[in-house]
Amino acid sequence: MIIEKNNIFQLDTDDTTYIMRVSTAGHLLNEYYGKRIRSAVDNNEFSKEKWPYAHGCSVVYDDKGESGYCLDLVSLEYSSIGKGDYREPSIELKTENGYVLDFKYSSFQINKGCIEVNGLPTPHDADETLIIYLVDEVAKLTLVLTYMVFEKANVIARSVKLINNSTANVEINKIMSLQLDMLNQDFSLVNFNGAWIGEMHQSEKAIGQGIYINDSKTGCSSNRHNPFFLLKAKECTANFGNCFAFNLIYSGNHLEEVELTTFDKVRVQLGLNSYCFNWILKPNEEFDTPFAVATFSANGFNKASQNMHDFTNNHVVRGKWANAPRPILINNWEATYFKFTEGKLNSLAKLAADIGIELFVLDDGWFGTRTDDTKGLGDWYVNPKKLPHGLEHLADKINKLGMKFGLWFEPEMVNEKSDLYIKHPEWAIKCPDRKESFGRNQMVLNLSIEAVQDYIIGFLDETLSAANIEYVKWDMNRNISDIYSHEYSQGELFHRYTLGLYRILSVITKKYPNVLFESCASGGNRFDLGMMSYMHQTWCSDDTDAFERIQIQSGTASGYPLSTMGCHVSASPSHQLLRRTPIDTRFNVAAFGCLGYELDLHKLSPVELRAVKAQIDFYKAHRQLLQYGTFYQLKNMNTDGYASWMVLSADRSEGIIGYYQGLAKANPKIDILKGYNLIDEKLYNIEVRYQEVNIKTFGGLINMISPINLNEDGFLVDQISKRKTMDGEKETYDVYGDAINNGAIKLFPQFAGTGFDKNVRLLADFGSRLYYFHTIEKKDEK
Ligand code: DGJ
Repeated sequence: MIIEKNNIFQLDTDDTTYIMRVSTAGHLLNEYYGKRIRSAVDNNEFSKEKWPYAHGCSVVYDDKGESGYCLDLVSLEYSSIGKGDYREPSIELKTENGYVLDFKYSSFQINKGCIEVNGLPTPHDADETLIIYLVDEVAKLTLVLTYMVFEKANVIARSVKLINNSTANVEINKIMSLQLDMLNQDFSLVNFNGAWIGEMHQSEKAIGQGIYINDSKTGCSSNRHNPFFLLKAKECTANFGNCFAFNLIYSGNHLEEVELTTFDKVRVQLGLNSYCFNWILKPNEEFDTPFAVATFSANGFNKASQNMHDFTNNHVVRGKWANAPRPILINNWEATYFKFTEGKLNSLAKLAADIGIELFVLDDGWFGTRTDDTKGLGDWYVNPKKLPHGLEHLADKINKLGMKFGLWFEPEMVNEKSDLYIKHPEWAIKCPDRKESFGRNQMVLNLSIEAVQDYIIGFLDETLSAANIEYVKWDMNRNISDIYSHEYSQGELFHRYTLGLYRILSVITKKYPNVLFESCASGGNRFDLGMMSYMHQTWCSDDTDAFERIQIQSGTASGYPLSTMGCHVSASPSHQLLRRTPIDTRFNVAAFGCLGYELDLHKLSPVELRAVKAQIDFYKAHRQLLQYGTFYQLKNMNTDGYASWMVLSADRSEGIIGYYQGLAKANPKIDILKGYNLIDEKLYNIEVRYQEVNIKTFGGLINMISPINLNEDGFLVDQISKRKTMDGEKETYDVYGDAINNGAIKLFPQFAGTGFDKNVRLLADFGSRLYYFHTIEKKDEK
């Protein structure tokens, strides 16, 4: 709900309140952001910062009003240069008269629902939108601040429009989407950093006086520093204490700044990166920033994450697949890489269909001369040597097996060795007088050029209309370099690239509303809300090693819902880390997201195939929980020594707890089973997902029970292990919710070098379990 009275604005969501006020001097100030409080619009005194005196050296804005009113001290909703605020500015413009700007409140408007911003991804289904106009009368510039309120998700989205009403060009050097000035709460800054095959690793630091920057300069939102971040108050833990979360709905270069001043004020900013950014705004032109989003939780970081999940599922992801169950897929990439034939694909698909997989995805290598990664990108027509009967035929065969068919593209790229490059070398981004640099042997097409956008739209349309393609994986495998534009001022290229990408995505996703789109950029190099505005899910990482994935998925799920996270079970040892992990751990990790398999199923033993079939059955039975349940991080591998995740249904009647360990310990402690937020007084049955035990896990100990002496590395044990398993534990309890909430369940002990039986849990290194719980009737109620 948005209320305005006496130049005070109060934006309420279910659990939060955001208050702004116009100061006597005319600036828009932030007065409060936090837990929901009663209306403040009738009383503008209590939340007002009081400035009776100015500090030495400070520049007093206007001593006719409040004698201590210095812009360096007040909490501004938008800040500029030249009138005494020496913190990081929200906007830096070069006008005919230099850098000085002073935007004052002019008027406001409250609308029901959303507003659309041209060319940029806009969240949908807001409850209300507040538009505030700020004007600099001298420079003849208007700033339009838009605040969309999403009540249930507890999110406020903000964007800024700059209008040039002057008669001269204005150069935009910096223009941020959101600024939040607030009092410090001994904040820690939590960022999500990484690189290829190691994305979204959480890093936390207590902030001291200074300026902290999180950004990307690669042309993508990047796997280095995701735009999502948290500010945790000192007392904040998983489910208690104050936590703010922020994100930007944008897929290119972004910038997030957190500045702590000597007066213990924190300034937070999110927006376009000013790196290589310089935009010429001509008279009567407008410039829109992307939307930034903010949420607040008084119940720890889990609630802040859940708010972001709720917002993404209900206000970012669009169309038929929003909130819809996502199919279990098989992707041929790690199964075959470039070496496949039609026969091989058909046989993989047949086996996948037999065990219940629902979608077959043909990855890289089906087009042009693409037999390795040195050639073919740009030539989006079928390679007849690999697929002699074409895509339509292959899709039909897959459909006849009862599966959907999906296809990989990397539309933004071109190889030097391609027909496209021979025809249009000028479409690749490169400088006129320098040798271009390659990444994975490829160059980036200049998506700021309309002809390039139309070419991409054209071949995608042709391919998608020619066969029954119900899923598209949209890849992007290198960062942008050699930036140069023939058409625009050089400082516009990065942003215009992203705008061009959004135009293509918008046209294609509107034309193919039934297709499920998965975004990918060498894994998570462009995992952001901008891409999610068009594409329903995103491939988290090229790293499918289950143990590494615990870190990657913990970080990713801090900001993004499980329904957007592509997570696959792959071969062991993993192709990225060469680590061996149990087949059930690979599933137990991948199950918290959109499940897929990415391995040659033919290479699995009968025992492993049986395990995979059981995994698929389990996932199908609990898909809604695993894709859309309320997600909790209960334990963190780095700080707690093991990881534990939970999903809970909206009515709290059922859920799943995952337990994951790293290396096994010689003298294992007693493991407890602890959840959160189950209904205390309801009776639940909780039961381990049954996992068989591979006899090879026992090594030479197999001889303790074998009548003949066996070589544990020999042919015989190998053959037996492919067909026979030992029973795992069948641990189950009927308990009240409060027992689970308070960690009263003590699990069977782990194997500790002696005595394995049905009441011992054999986890070994990288072992894991899933526990499913649901409410049951009390016996006397039956
Ligand atoms: C990078 C992706 O992340 C992989 O999943 C795969 O699609 C390859 N590209 C194909 O080149």
